Amino acid sequence: MILPIVAYGDAILRKRGENIDKKYPELQKLIDDMFETMENARGVGLAAPQINKSIRLFVVDSTRMSDDDEGEVGSPDGIREVFLNPKLFDETGKEWAYEEGCLSIPGVRENVTRLDTISIQYYDRNFDFHEKTFDGLTARVIQHEYDHIEGKLFIDHLKPLKRTLLKGKLDNISKGKVSVDYKMRFPKK
Ligand code: NI
Repeated sequence: MILPIVAYGDAILRKRGENIDKKYPELQKLIDDMFETMENARGVGLAAPQINKSIRLFVVDSTRMSDDDEGEVGSPDGIREVFLNPKLFDETGKEWAYEEGCLSIPGVRENVTRLDTISIQYYDRNFDFHEKTFDGLTARVIQHEYDHIEGKLFIDHLKPLKRTLLKGKLDNISKGKVSVDYKMRFPKK
């Protein structure tokens, strides 16, 4: 089932998500719905706050991104993975800029500078524990999605002047004055 994606301006995008346990209702269906919603919007990642759930869960599919330096360190391909109750505990390597976008902020793309390599602990959809290191574009997507469950957005990384210039556009997004071809819910519409 395709879920509506929460647009910029909704308070839920600014809340830190809560950890969940195995008893969380209909978790498997929620994860399937998140993948379906992400794919329908042609995204490479989607975090639970974006579908109006304030929990520490996101999905990533970096397998179709073009880059030869992506995925788990030592592996050539991207990943398709569920991150439950993740803890990002290390960021290293060189800083690099990449143009990011967000399904909650349609039509806005800006260069964001982040570190290249991350290490993260998380549970998968079966609640099996993992500790892995990722780099390149996959690390980039994980950093972006991890920000979401911390109540942060990629535009928070921009310089104040750049954000000021975006203000009108962001206001219009929260009012639904934006052209988008997937289902959204707008906080000020
Ligand atoms: Ni996003």
